[in-house]
Formats: sequence, structure tokens, C-alpha cells
Amino acid sequence: MKNLTDQVTFRHGSKIDTRTAQSPMLTNSGLNEKVTQSTIEYYSTRSQSAGMVIVEYTNVSPNGGPSRSWAKDREQLAIYKDTFIDGLTKIAQALKKDGNKAILQLAHSGREAAYRYTIGGQVEVPSKMDFPWIDYPLHELTDDEVWQIVKDFGSATKRAIQCGFDGIEIHGANHYLIQQFFSAFSNHRSDHWGGNLEKRMNFAIEVSREVMKVVADYAPKNFIVGYRISPEEIHGENVGYTWHESQKLVKKLTGSFDFDYVHLSTMNYAAKPTDSDQNYAQLLGKEIKSPTLEMIAGGIHTVEKMKDALKYVDIVSLGRATLIDPQIAYKLKTGLNKDILLKFNEQSVKNAHLTPGLIELLPNAPYFYMPGVEYLKTLSTVKLGDVVTHDGATNSKNN
Ligand SMILES: Cc1cc2nc3c(=O)[nH]c(=O)nc-3n(C[C@H](O)[C@H](O)[C@H](O)COP(=O)(O)O)c2cc1C
Repeated sequence: MKNLTDQVTFRHGSKIDTRTAQSPMLTNSGLNEKVTQSTIEYYSTRSQSAGMVIVEYTNVSPNGGPSRSWAKDREQLAIYKDTFIDGLTKIAQALKKDGNKAILQLAHSGREAAYRYTIGGQVEVPSKMDFPWIDYPLHELTDDEVWQIVKDFGSATKRAIQCGFDGIEIHGANHYLIQQFFSAFSNHRSDHWGGNLEKRMNFAIEVSREVMKVVADYAPKNFIVGYRISPEEIHGENVGYTWHESQKLVKKLTGSFDFDYVHLSTMNYAAKPTDSDQNYAQLLGKEIKSPTLEMIAGGIHTVEKMKDALKYVDIVSLGRATLIDPQIAYKLKTGLNKDILLKFNEQSVKNAHLTPGLIELLPNAPYFYMPGVEYLKTLSTVKLGDVVTHDGATNSKNN
């Protein structure tokens, strides 16, 4: 019988003191891809939100992002140069101050790097093809370029270790580059990186191999490594892959590498595919090799849902719930379950320290609906915080 307040020990020895994680969520609070004061404030406020906090998607390569931006001057974060280390170190410190584990999500957005195109960069894909929603040129990666991105994931891991993060999560979900390689819809290559299911797995495998090698060489023994996956990619007629194929991928990844956890990205943790009466967590869970743990995100917004989701996984991943109440884990641990805030209103927003980018995004993103979100519309002018530069000084750059 699992309880939310159980301590969890990962296979390499790290412990978290509830069965909760904060899902990675873009805050769009970066400036020139660097951490700003509002990024730090947001994460500092979430040092008790969950046993471990997975920091938003951070680009490992110069052309790995920023992706489609919600506001053109509010960016995502990057880790492809040493100059990013100082700001990211501040996030790790802020998150760890109350004993939480801090994990950094490493990503390359591939075809979604729309903002990189806007600022003069190249947008990279496994295969050049027409995507109806993309109106900028795409560059098909050469074999050498693919290997360079594999190396970039390794260098980013090394920097994350230098920043003091307790772990990293490889972002293999949500239609970004790793998923694009795994998807038969987006990957039409006939080299090492595509052609059949085995070869479509190769990019995920090589990225994992490189990350694990860097972790073995440079990280503390208990460093946490996770992998995020979307269980299926099916959009009407376009089938990237089914859960049958993602079962094979998680089997291969967790059979070949010592992952601490696999993290399923969904919008409904209880969802089932059309051809099974079991849910995705159950189906993929069967193929995740022990002692790798399983975690799922998607609509886990109340204590009842956390308890229900725990029937299927080891750790529940809380996304939007932690935007409303950044103290969920603290309240679970201290028996204050009834005090968990469930909607945006004057009281919850005051303590939530949302970034200006989130305040602007959330009321305009029906896909991410949250109770009380309309209240955010009433908040006054949005301002960016100060940029933390690599030497620790701050530049005031409000817009
Ligand atoms: C504002 C916002 C930003 C997000 N950014 C990321 C991200 O950086 N990386 C990622 O893997 N998922 C991202 N997601 C998806 C969440 O991690 C999570 O899977 C999703 O919100 C469903 O969980 P929830 O119902 O608990 O919010 C984002 C979601 C939201 C709401």
C-alpha cells in the first residue's frame, strides 16, 4: 500500500520525502535565454511544492530552442554555454533550500524552435517535410550534426552537475526532437537514425548513453537521471507511434541504462488507449525494468486524484496544481491536506509568485485551463525581472 507521504529512495540512493514531483513547466521568464530575477523568485517559492521539482525545459544546443514563444521577448532557458551556469545555479540553490531535490529538464525542440528562426538561427529536424502548422524553413540534420546534438546533451548534463542540480530529466516527450526521431510521422530517414522502429529508437538511446557516461564520470553517486515520454503520438490519420512501440522503447531504455525514473507526460493520468482496458501507466509500467520508478503527470489536481494515481505509479507528478499552491508537499507532510489551494484568487495568487510570462499565458491558453484563471487577467502590467549575468551582477532590463 503506497501513501503520498512515503519516503522514496531512488536506485542510486537519493531520497525524496513524499511521492510527489513538480512537473517541468516553462515559465517564459528568461531573457536572452538566461535566468531572470522572476525565474528565481518563482522557483524559490516552490522549494516545498513537491519532493522533487523538475525545472522547466532547458535547451542543450544553440538551435535547440527557444521554441514557439508565448511572447516574443519572454524566453525559455538554455544551458549550451558556460555563461548559463550562474543563473541556473541560483535556481538549484533556491529549490534545495528546504531539502527538495532539484532536477533540470534537458531538451532540444527540433522543429518547434520557432523563436530561434525569428532571431536568425536554423530550425533542425530529422526529416525535411511539410508540416501544415510550420511556416519557417527547416534544416534536415546531417549524421554529424545529430552526433553533435548527442554530445550537447552530455555537455549540458555536465553543466547541470556543476550547477548543483540533484539530477536531470531527458525530455523525450511532447513532440520535441527526441520524440521527432522516434516518430514514424516525422522521421523518414534511412541511415542509423531511422528506417524502422529499432533505428528510430537510436537517437533516444545515444542521448541516454552519452548522458549516462557523463554522469558516471562527473556526478555524485546518487545523481538522479529520468526520461520523459509521451505514451502515444496519434493525431487522426497521422500516427507517429503507438503505446505498443513506446512499451518497446521504455523496455530498451530501462534495460540498457540505469534510469532512476521514467516520467509519462499526459493530460489525463487515467486515460486508456482505444485498444486496451488498461491505462497508459499500467501498460508502460509493465515494461519499465525495476528498480527504475514510474511517474505520471496529467490532471492530478486534488489529493483524491493523487491517491488514485498512486495506484498505478510510484510518484505523482503535479503540474498546474503547483502553480496555484506552491506548498503542496509541505501541506501533505504536515497533515494540512484540506488547506491545499485549488484555484487562483487574490489569496493564492499573492503567494504563488507566478512569473509575468505565466500570468500572461495562462488566461489565454484554454488548453491549460485552471480554476480561477480569469482572475489573472485582472493583474496589472507585466514586467520582466532583472537578468542575472554570468558574473553574478544583475542588469535591470524591464520591458
Ligand atoms: C505552463 C506549462 C508549461 C509546461 N512546460 C513544460 C515543459 O517545459 N516541459 C514538459 O515536459 N512539459 C511541460 N508542460 C506539461 C506539464 O509538465 C504537465 O505534463 C501537464 O501540465 C499536465 O499535468 P497537470 O495536469 O498536472 O498540469 C507544461 C505545462 C504547463 C501548464
